[in-house]
Amino acid sequence: MKTVAVVGTQWGDEGKGKIVDLLAADADVIVRFQGGNNAAHTLVVDGEKFVLRLVPAGALHPNKTCVIGNGTVVDPIALIAEIDDLKKRRGLRGDFLKLSYEAHIVFPYHRAIDRMREARAGKRAIGTTGFGIGPAYEDKMSRAGLRFDDLVNFKSFADKLKRTVADKNAYLKAVLKGKPISATEILEAMRRVRRRLMPYLCDTGEFLAEAIAAGKRILFEGAHGTMLDIDHGTYPFVTSSNCIASAAFGGTGLGPGTLEAVLGISKAYTTRVGAGPFPTEIKGWLADALREEGVEFGSATGRPRRIGWFDAVLARFAARVNGMWALALTKLDVLTGIDPIRICVAYQYKGKRYETMPPGRHAMETAKPIFEEMPGWTEAIGEARSLGQLPANARAYIERIGELAGIPIAIVSVGADRAATIVVTNPFA
Ligand code: GDP
Ligand code: IMO
Ligand code: MG
Repeated sequence: MKTVAVVGTQWGDEGKGKIVDLLAADADVIVRFQGGNNAAHTLVVDGEKFVLRLVPAGALHPNKTCVIGNGTVVDPIALIAEIDDLKKRRGLRGDFLKLSYEAHIVFPYHRAIDRMREARAGKRAIGTTGFGIGPAYEDKMSRAGLRFDDLVNFKSFADKLKRTVADKNAYLKAVLKGKPISATEILEAMRRVRRRLMPYLCDTGEFLAEAIAAGKRILFEGAHGTMLDIDHGTYPFVTSSNCIASAAFGGTGLGPGTLEAVLGISKAYTTRVGAGPFPTEIKGWLADALREEGVEFGSATGRPRRIGWFDAVLARFAARVNGMWALALTKLDVLTGIDPIRICVAYQYKGKRYETMPPGRHAMETAKPIFEEMPGWTEAIGEARSLGQLPANARAYIERIGELAGIPIAIVSVGADRAATIVVTNPFA
């Protein structure tokens, strides 16, 4: 296959970055199509760790083109910092990155509004990353946003920005009781942004269409996860973009027929950061032990991640809404020593058993998981490079997950490093 999308099937942090970095070896172009720097994708290559938030996770391979598509919202200061860090640590080609003219810009007032609203919401807070993503998408939808396209004519950009900042300050002061933002300071920063980022601006839709026509291999890198999707997730405890595979089209300017395979990424258990329903959540010492073993602390914000058992109802749901071809199962090594291991096979809701999601996402708040137990294993599995090298109980666990999800398992990840992976089927092969 030549066009493959990688998407999260849970609440984010499934290990998409690691799998995209791994598959990028066989791709020509790696493209982000939604979200912003609320994403944090961790790559470990030969023991060295990189956290990418906006730059697609193909950047560590030489001679790949990374594309940030129109569906993203981009904090330009964060993007420049990320490019500079990557340049310092790895040699990057000057033209390694293409940034869509149509991507929306995240400004300091978006961050300020995000943080102040969360503080005001108190116990009802969503637990956002605080990077201004929701407010930036709001402006996009209400047609009050500014795009990289606007930067081309700096004079009209400055006029628009001043008008927008005046509106935002009225809201910040009157409603959020916050301090006003200086348009002059933002404009100064944007002059530098313009100088630094203009060389990357590109009609990315056209670029991708030409790449596909030339037979190049395209890897679409999803951010967040299916349950954080603005439509299909646990609303309102979601992010502000569509994170499912179909967002790859609107978010790049390509048509649905261009995508050949969707690979869903799932942890061998479940985690979520921030508030909201989580049927298989584990509380107490076992959650603490798995959090320590899996280093389950948000890479964007450092917050401890909530921990739960693998949820096959979610996996089936994700397989449906993403049209998934196969699943990549990550962090299997973290379950070593856990016995028994539980899998949620269905939900009990209002006296009925549901194998698929009960109707209405509100049901997630009270649905009770129905568990099945499987025996664990004690052997370290981090060195396994084929399914045959895994203990029989680990193999049985993987098989059961594939059976319950209704799709094949294409990849099993047994450690954070790029090399710590069992590739059963490479979608680009
Ligand atoms: P993403 O947002 O989906 O890219 O995931 P994150 O990078 O935020 O979180 C996944 C974390 O798990 C990162 O720290 C990875 O380095 C790490 N990781 C990925 N795969 C594995 C694995 O198979 N085993 C272990 N132990 N860690 C992994
Ligand atoms: P990656 O791509 C985990 C969560 C936040 C919060 C909610 C809304 O690394 O998997 P936002 O800042 O987007 O308005 O926050 O969504 N969230 C993520 N959780 N991984 C992510 O991305 C996330 N992106 C957003 O924790 O609950
Ligand atoms: Mg992450």
